[in-house]
Amino acid sequence: MANIEYRTLGNSGLVVSTIGLGCNNFGRPNTASETQAGTDAVIHAAIDAGVTFFDTADIYGGERGLSETLMGNSLKRRRNEIVLATKFGMDMAGANGPDWGARGSRRYVRLAVEASLRRLQTDWIDLYQLHTPDHTTPIEETLSVLDDLITEGKVRYIGHSNLSGWQIADAEYKAVLGGHPKFISAQNEYSLLVRGAELEVLPAVNAYGLGFLPFFPLYNGLFTGKFSRSGGPADSRIMSLRPHLLETAPWDTIEKYEAFCAERGVSMLSATLAWLLAQPGLSSVIAGATKPEQILQNATAATEWTPTAAEVAEISELFANPS
Ligand SMILES: NC(=O)c1ccc[n+]([C@@H]2O[C@H](COP(=O)([O-])OP(=O)(O)OC[C@H]3O[C@@H](n4cnc5c(N)ncnc54)[C@H](OP(=O)(O)O)[C@@H]3O)[C@@H](O)[C@H]2O)c1
Repeated sequence: MANIEYRTLGNSGLVVSTIGLGCNNFGRPNTASETQAGTDAVIHAAIDAGVTFFDTADIYGGERGLSETLMGNSLKRRRNEIVLATKFGMDMAGANGPDWGARGSRRYVRLAVEASLRRLQTDWIDLYQLHTPDHTTPIEETLSVLDDLITEGKVRYIGHSNLSGWQIADAEYKAVLGGHPKFISAQNEYSLLVRGAELEVLPAVNAYGLGFLPFFPLYNGLFTGKFSRSGGPADSRIMSLRPHLLETAPWDTIEKYEAFCAERGVSMLSATLAWLLAQPGLSSVIAGATKPEQILQNATAATEWTPTAAEVAEISELFANPS
């Protein structure tokens, strides 16, 4: 078992591993985790290493629902060992029937949660997240149906994703006003190269005591250290699906970062995970993995280096204006 640390998700009693597992690779075409066997290998390696936090969504997988279906098959006997998070509210292309864009509505959320529970083969979801703001449905209505799901025991805690700072504050206020359970977590894009959350989202997250879950924390794998100006492994997501990320990456800055890591004898992966985990409010880094060795490496790398506050600041400064 790796030497993983655990934190509460914000001001809640839900404890998660600081290295979580992003599950959007399960059922993703042309990856090692496209199949049931590939998914099983990653999931069981993660649990055996002490990773407890698994983050999926109803929409993930080559076809909608496939990540949840593969996870449900994998987890059966080990469901109690993990904290299972999923999401609703992205366009399921009719899989839950017509929704008229109101995917935070009482009508739709009921359909979505039953479908996720069925695919995941479980009676409860530990963290149920609104995947994206619903501009049609008042947030009071979404909070109200989520409140009912908690009372019924189908959902334990609720979170949100892709909300702006003012939407986070509004949801907090409406929960208090309506006497509903509050969202305990926020999931937004955040990495060394995407720092927009620092402007409005992270201040709101910290003001209200939410736990923060950064998505694309390794910038699609760029900060694992396996890429250079000239390319990387052919079977990686970046090389096969997003080669433009390599073309547009600020290589001068990344190479300075490589030198910073080399001076201290740490890998870029360890330094990046340590920098993320040093950010106030951050609860779990939900990097994805397509192979068991990746999640094992991430679980180990996270505690290999403890940067000083000055070193955290130096990394932040290095990427303030990347070139
Ligand atoms: N809320 C939202 O709107 C939203 C949006 C996107 C994602 N997410 C969540 O965020 C999670 C993480 O995102 P992500 O997985 O796309 O991005 P990421 O963490 O930035 O990149 C992870 C990718 O890097 C590679 N990798 C990971 N560990 C590695 C290691 N030790 N060595 C070498 N390569 C390694 C793997 O891809 P390859 O093997 O292909 O290189 C892996 O899929 C998702 O699973 C999902 O749960 C949420």
